[in-house]
Amino acid sequence: MKKLLQVTDLKVTFKTLEAVRSVNFSMYEGEVLGIVGESGSGKSALAKALVKLHPSYYTQMSGQVLYQETDLMAMTERELQKVRGKEIGMIFQDPMTSLNPTATVQDQILEGYLRHFPHVNKAAAHAYALEMLHLVGIPEPELRMKQYPHMLSGGLRQRVMIAIALASKPKLLIADEPTTALDVTIQAQILDLLKKIQKETQTSILLITHDLSVVASFCDRVLVMYAGKIIEEAPVDKLFSHPEHPYTQGLLRAIPRLDLAKDQPLIPIIGTPPDLSHPLTGCSFCPRCPVAMNICTQESPPDFENKSACWRHDPRRAL
Ligand SMILES: Nc1ncnc2c1ncn2[C@@H]1O[C@H](COP(=O)(O)OP(=O)(O)O)[C@@H](O)[C@H]1O
Ligand SMILES: [Mg+2]
Repeated sequence: MKKLLQVTDLKVTFKTLEAVRSVNFSMYEGEVLGIVGESGSGKSALAKALVKLHPSYYTQMSGQVLYQETDLMAMTERELQKVRGKEIGMIFQDPMTSLNPTATVQDQILEGYLRHFPHVNKAAAHAYALEMLHLVGIPEPELRMKQYPHMLSGGLRQRVMIAIALASKPKLLIADEPTTALDVTIQAQILDLLKKIQKETQTSILLITHDLSVVASFCDRVLVMYAGKIIEEAPVDKLFSHPEHPYTQGLLRAIPRLDLAKDQPLIPIIGTPPDLSHPLTGCSFCPRCPVAMNICTQESPPDFENKSACWRHDPRRAL
């Protein structure tokens, strides 16, 4: 598979708070990659950093984001505007704050599309907006095109957001908690829709969520994020059958699972994530880790290949 994205040593600091602390990962064409982690683990900070959406006056960013061999971190704002939307589309958690309340659905779908494809005539643009609403399964698309966001239900708004993101035919779609604000049945419909679209269009999807069940049903591969770092990376089946990091194991013990015995007790992870505004020594999960060793309090673990960032994988672990 061809590499679409390669992220190296990406860091995001808000004033003194290190929200993303050296993140490395790759993504391939046509892949659905999940990023999962507790609230506050830096998922959104990472998602926005990929397309340099953080305001520079209070955010420091460093590292490399190679998108098809071009470093987005090195691009000017003008160059980035051609990439955002056109090459890389974004869907956020709350469509009400991301949609424009004063523009119709049709205008919002066409805004990005016409910016990137300015020579399309009016009738063709109208037909295209209709096609997009069909694609995302919106009933009565002719009527909905003329409506404003407040006239739509939460599920329909999220579908409109997806239609807007897809209208510019991006190669990569970054979906940050796209179903978190929706109730469970609508959530399932939206995920099914994204899956269908992914199959039909071969768009790569980076799906960010705090919900492991969403990951299980949707992703090919998963990155687990904790306190601003990726602590484990695995194909989705392996993550659920052989989680390597004590944090991932803890997450899996805390959710109900159909593949385990019915009377299996749910065990929450005790404690809270560390405060990222102070420098951390050792492994950031150490204070909550049931199997921590001496070295874990002293040195940050490396990423052990095909394993996780945990000192237990180190042959010198008895030290
Ligand atoms: N604009 C901001 N200014 C200051 N701190 C922020 C800002 N956005 C997020 N943070 C902090 O950065 C950390 C990561 O946040 P975020 O990326 O939103 O986490 P997640 O998306 O995983 O819930 C949190 O500690 C959060 O409080
Ligand atoms: Mg978030």
